[in-house]
Amino acid sequence: MILVTGASGKTGTAVINALAARGEAVHAVVHRPEQVAPAIALGARRASAGSMSDASALIQAADGARAIYHICPNVSPHEVAFGRAVVAAATGAGIRRLVFHSVLHPQIEAMPHHWDKLRVEEMLLESGLDVTILQPGAYMQNIMAGWRGILEEGIYRIPYSVETRLSLVDLGDVAEVAASVLASPGHAGATYELVGTTPSSQLEITETLSRVLGRPVRAEAETIAAWEARARTAGMGDHQRRTLIRMFRYYDRHGLTGGTAVLRTLLGRPPRTLAEFAAGAAAAVR
Ligand SMILES: NC(=O)c1ccc[n+]([C@@H]2O[C@H](COP(=O)([O-])OP(=O)(O)OC[C@H]3O[C@@H](n4cnc5c(N)ncnc54)[C@H](OP(=O)(O)O)[C@@H]3O)[C@@H](O)[C@H]2O)c1
Repeated sequence: MILVTGASGKTGTAVINALAARGEAVHAVVHRPEQVAPAIALGARRASAGSMSDASALIQAADGARAIYHICPNVSPHEVAFGRAVVAAATGAGIRRLVFHSVLHPQIEAMPHHWDKLRVEEMLLESGLDVTILQPGAYMQNIMAGWRGILEEGIYRIPYSVETRLSLVDLGDVAEVAASVLASPGHAGATYELVGTTPSSQLEITETLSRVLGRPVRAEAETIAAWEARARTAGMGDHQRRTLIRMFRYYDRHGLTGGTAVLRTLLGRPPRTLAEFAAGAAAAVR
């Protein structure tokens, strides 16, 4: 049994899918009780609900598992505390194997959610556990947040320059690697950068979207104030807004890029391209 934390989110769902596809038994640890049934429907053998801050509940959930796949909630102010609770759960339940879902370039201090992940990585390396760290780039799936604007107005809005270069990765590819490092030997002690595309500007990204969708899509930089107003209306918390604004400012100045070689090797095939992702997204909407 593999214990997956943060199991009901975007990443958790993809990881459960990939583990279930390999026939792995999964215990999904979700946040709220109403997320238990959907996790079982997705293919988890067991599911339990609770907060990641509750180390004793985590120890109980971890009982009998052979490994933990730890996914912290996105942009959480509690990243380090949750990491500590998960290490305590692994140690308390006698589980040696732990895979951590980190992020590309956690060493960037200007982005607090990256920097927090670096602190967790450090804690894991000192934990004595058999640790693997996965560092995915920005998911292609993030584009779906602006999908309506893309289809209805032909505009892809981002709160940074249209020249900003990002290396993207398909979440399905990341989940496939997550499942494979849990299933095969040789990955304990490793840290893998997971990037699927060569660095692309937002202009290049919209060129691909235009080609695949068969209609013009242009990238438009919106102001951070406009983004923040929308995020506030949508109910995003202060910490998340503040942190993401720092990320957008960093992206604007430096982008976020990495190399594709590691992911290609781990998958044993080329990573999914942005064009393939966009074609799949368009077909799913139809
Ligand atoms: N998005 C990217 O491009 C990207 C790239 C690289 C790495 N990552 C990393 O991937 C991780 C997961 O991101 P995601 O976008 O998949 O997250 P997500 O969809 O926001 O899911 C987070 C999950 O955590 C749950 N949660 C919230 N507070 C909790 C708590 N106190 N205890 C237990 N569970 C709690 C949420 O439940 P509720 O529904 O109840 O809130 C939700 O199910 C993050 O650590 C992020 O940094 C993301």
